[in-house]
Amino acid sequence: MIQNCPVVETRLTLSIVLATILAAGVVAGCAGGDAFLPGESEVPRAAPDEHPPAPPPPPAKWELASALPSLKVLQDTYPSRGHGVGDLRARLLANDTAAAAFDKLIRGDHMPQGSVLVSQQARRADGTPDGLFVMVKREPGFFPAGGDWEWVAVGPDNRIRARGQLAPCARCHADAAVDFVFPRPVPQP
Ligand code: HEC
Repeated sequence: MIQNCPVVETRLTLSIVLATILAAGVVAGCAGGDAFLPGESEVPRAAPDEHPPAPPPPPAKWELASALPSLKVLQDTYPSRGHGVGDLRARLLANDTAAAAFDKLIRGDHMPQGSVLVSQQARRADGTPDGLFVMVKREPGFFPAGGDWEWVAVGPDNRIRARGQLAPCARCHADAAVDFVFPRPVPQP
């Protein structure tokens, strides 16, 4: 025990010396200005004529937007209970495949592949278009936890805001009695 002490002491002393040297170095560096820091002239700067980074390309247009006028209106305007925070009105649109199946849906059914359902939304306050929420029935296995629906959020400019296996959409729609689809809402002026 006792004979170990000098060793410990030596190590201690050594580390103190080292610390002192290092501290001195840092202080010297600070005092010296830029001994350890690149001088201002060394900091890379963008050349004045360099182009700023290109802005990201706008999101793609929803490929079915042009087909909107040909969709059937399954339900005209109603206050949306599910989307927005009570500030949206919606219309329910469907392509022929979905329209044919919609009213026959009974518990345990699944809408046929190729079904397209659209909630077309506008602000309740002033009718400003607020975009579309879309469900497209894809092939089995596409998104089992979401009824194999593809979920699409489209802006009022018809450009895609989000699409695919969107869990927040599917999670809420999982409460619907049949195949993630809520029944025809009650129209209201
Ligand atoms: C908080 C719950 C909730 C969330 C989240 C939600 N929905 Fe809905 N959705 C509803 C309800 C309730 C209806 C029935 C009509 C209404 O209230 O607008 C509906 C209706 C729809 C309809 C018409 C077909 C149907 O089921 O009646 C589509 C299409 C739709 N939603 C797509 C989406 C998409 C896409 C998303 C995600 C971007 C989404 N929804 C997120 C609750 C929700």
